Formats: sequence, structure tokens, C-alpha cells
Amino acid sequence: MNFKAIRIFEEDGQYIPKIVERKIEDLPKGDVVIKVLYSSLNYKDALSCTGNKGVTRNFPHTPGIDAAGVVYSSENTDFKAGEEVFITGYDLGMNTDGGFGEYIRIPSSWIIKKPKNLSLKEAMIYGTAGFTSALSIYELILIVDPEDGPILVTGASGGVGSHSVKFLVKLGYEVVGVVENEEKRKFLLGLGASDTLTRDEFKDTTNKAMLKQTWAGIIDTVGGDPLSTAIRSLKYGGVVTTCGNVAGGNIDHMNVYPFILRGVRLIGIDSVQCPKEKRNEVWSMLANSWKASQLEDGIIEVQLEEILEKVHDMLNSRLIGRVILKHSR
Ligand SMILES: NC(=O)c1ccc[n+]([C@@H]2O[C@H](COP(=O)([O-])OP(=O)(O)OC[C@H]3O[C@@H](n4cnc5c(N)ncnc54)[C@H](OP(=O)(O)O)[C@@H]3O)[C@@H](O)[C@H]2O)c1
Repeated sequence: MNFKAIRIFEEDGQYIPKIVERKIEDLPKGDVVIKVLYSSLNYKDALSCTGNKGVTRNFPHTPGIDAAGVVYSSENTDFKAGEEVFITGYDLGMNTDGGFGEYIRIPSSWIIKKPKNLSLKEAMIYGTAGFTSALSIYELILIVDPEDGPILVTGASGGVGSHSVKFLVKLGYEVVGVVENEEKRKFLLGLGASDTLTRDEFKDTTNKAMLKQTWAGIIDTVGGDPLSTAIRSLKYGGVVTTCGNVAGGNIDHMNVYPFILRGVRLIGIDSVQCPKEKRNEVWSMLANSWKASQLEDGIIEVQLEEILEKVHDMLNSRLIGRVILKHSR
């Protein structure tokens, strides 16, 4: 049986995407084959599509770090043909062919059984971005209460950022988001943020050891200089979570003073190797108490042929919100 997949080919130092026909026998080893119905677009997919060797070492390759669908065949008796399942993280879409193909073959240990109150489409509306956001907020709310003050979200118009705004608003926090333009500002206010700052307005140019105490908590999705500003502008006892590096991998102008004089905390978030027990707990929250009533608002649904245009938009900061991929057969 043939199926369709995006393959990124390395040709003379260029990375060329093509839609090709493949067979299940072509897929990497694994004990479960899944017919993928939905995937989603994450920043890591955009990097994999454009040949970033930090994400994908070997080409040709099929990106897609998220996949939701039904079990097609299984050598593990815990999974039955037709069962609805999804996967986020591990090596999917990095060096194991991912959800931008209509079938995947993976180790059963990566699979999450779909919780009762969540559809496969909803699982991919969350996807890695929503799951990472939930892991971040899970940590933040252990330390910061809504009455402690506003929460800032950087990269707020993106996948992780926009989910974070939705969750925080639902949990009763005042949220301010960093966004780049007026269209993104409107989008964020529509999600319930009380205000926005542009990247420039949030940027610190003083390089002071500590800045005015402004934020009770910060969900940082971009790293680099904004993360440095974030740490230095937290209120006493505040917390910042860090998950991304779109603004850079280094944290310049950092020093120990916010930590030793204000007791602030910096918490790292990893969704890729997150242990199964915590995964199941967080996905159960996403299916129930944290589930937004308008989960589909602002979601862009595309087919395989359209996803590469969205990759381009994502890498050029033109994307607003979350893109999900629906396979057509
Ligand atoms: N640790 C983990 O497990 C994990 C999981 C998922 C994602 N991540 C990482 O988290 C980050 C965000 O992922 P995502 O899927 O939400 O990406 P995304 O949808 O592309 O969102 C990133 C947002 O950051 C802003 N941005 C882009 N370039 C920037 C820059 N140079 N400086 C400041 N802001 C910038 C953009 O908004 P504006 O243009 O409006 O500023 C964009 O909407 C990525 O680095 C990703 O790899 C990590």
C-alpha cells in the first residue's frame, strides 16, 4: 500500500521538500504502525523542513513532531488496531519519520492513548506546543497566585505562547503578551490578554543587574535577551519558565543578583523526554479542567500541500496562532 508524505531531500547543500509516495516497509523500525489523521506545525518542524542539523541529522526525512491517528497494526498487545492514539515528542519528526506522512511506525512506549474528553483533532490543536505550555504553567502555578500580579508571556502569538495566554486567562491570571505587530496584538487581546508589549518595548537597553520589579511570573518561549530581561524584571519570589530559543541560546547580561536578592526562580521545561506518568497527568488536565471552551478559535487547518507555505510564514514571524495538518485520506 502506498501513502503520501513530505520528504526533505538534501541536494548540493540545499534542502528541497517534495511530496512523495511511500510504503510502510520504508518506515523506520517500531512495534506499532499508526495511520496519521492529524499533525501540527511546531517551530522544530520548521527547522527540520529547512535542514537544521540540530533537529534532523540525516536526510531525506519526513518532519512532524506531533501525530494523532488510529493504530493500523501492532506487535504490542496493549494497542489494538483501530484504537485512537497520539504522540508528541521523543524522536518523532526529528530523526524518525514523523506526522507529515500519512503513516508512521514507532516504538509503542512513545504512544499516549487518547483521553475520553479529547478528540484527535483537539489533541493536535494542543500538540507539542500546548503540552509544553501546560508543563510550563503547571510549574508556574505551584509558586505564583493570580493576586501576586501580572504574568508576562514572550513569543505570545506563537504556538506555545498563545496556548499559555489561553490557559492563564482560564486560570484567572492577568496576562500581558509580547507581540511584534498590531495584528498579533488584536489576536492576543481576543484571547483575553489584558495588554501587550512590542519586542522593543520589552527590550532592556540599560543592562542593569536588576530592573523594576514588574512581573509575578513569566512564561518565556524565546530565550536570548528577552529571557535575560525577564529574569531581571521579576517581582520578589517570582518565577520564569524557559522552553525555547528563537531569540537565542545564550542569556547575556545575566548575574546572580535576581536569584540571591529577590529569590526568583528559573525553571527549565522539556516536553520531549517528559516521563510518561507526568505526560498522562498533564494530558488528562488538558482534556478536562484546563480545556478551553473555544479551543478551535484561531486555529488554521491545512492539508499536506499547504503546510510548507506555513513553515515559511513561521520562520518569518508571519504566523499567528496554531497550524494543524489534516491528512486527506
Ligand atoms: N522545551 C521544549 O520541550 C519545547 C517544546 C516546544 C517548543 N519549544 C521551543 O519553544 C519555542 C517556541 O515554539 P513555538 O512552536 O511556539 O514557535 P512559534 O509558533 O514560531 O512562536 C514563536 C514566537 O516567538 C516570536 N519570535 C520569533 N522570533 C523572535 C525573536 N528573534 N525574538 C523574539 N521573539 C521572537 C514570534 O512572535 P512575534 O513575532 O509576535 O514576536 C513567534 O510567534 C521554540 O524555540 C521551540 O523550539 C520547546
